[in-house]
Amino acid sequence: MSVLIAYASKYGSTAEIAERIAGKLCDLGQNALAVPAEAAGDPTAYDAIIVGSAVYLGSWRKEATDFVRHNRATLSARPVWLFSSGPLGTETTDINGKDLEVEARPKEIDEFESEISPRGSHVFFGVLDPEKLAGRDRLMRRLPPVREILPEGDFRNWDEVDAWATSIADELARSTPSSTE
Ligand SMILES: Cc1cc2nc3c(=O)[nH]c(=O)nc-3n(C[C@H](O)[C@H](O)[C@H](O)COP(=O)(O)O)c2cc1C
Repeated sequence: MSVLIAYASKYGSTAEIAERIAGKLCDLGQNALAVPAEAAGDPTAYDAIIVGSAVYLGSWRKEATDFVRHNRATLSARPVWLFSSGPLGTETTDINGKDLEVEARPKEIDEFESEISPRGSHVFFGVLDPEKLAGRDRLMRRLPPVREILPEGDFRNWDEVDAWATSIADELARSTPSSTE
């Protein structure tokens, strides 16, 4: 099956997650391509679509939300999965003891779940390299309370990314009629 992974990334770490998912899907026999959401164009030619975005201030990046909103009809007629890349650190719960993957859920996901009925939606931990931050991001991260919730480091769990991609490949393989049938 042809699978589009349309992603939005500001500093490159979400792009690397998208590329990793594409690589894993290709290893597992799918024809997958990761493309920045703003360059992805019309996804009608793809059999399945994965949309992912970095999370900033509780939201997906505009390129990804625009992609979903512009292609709502196509997305709701195909198998779709969503992923977000956001929380930082090694804790899986926030200061109130709540599950970070749930708390870090970007605000658009409810809207997209009801409008395009994705088969799955996943939050991956992300990356923060203070040297790379520009403009307002750099200033904001210097504030002590913000610095605490945005620790420096690469917190991506590649085994988790691979496992998620594998579950998608399995689901696609199950829905592809076998060539011998
Ligand atoms: C200014 C700023 C705000 C952020 N806000 C959030 C947020 O609200 N929720 C979250 O989970 N992660 C947040 N993050 C973490 C980013 O989502 C994380 O660094 C992500 O991996 C960046 O992806 P990118 O390299 O593809 O841009 C923020 C990071 C910065 C620098």
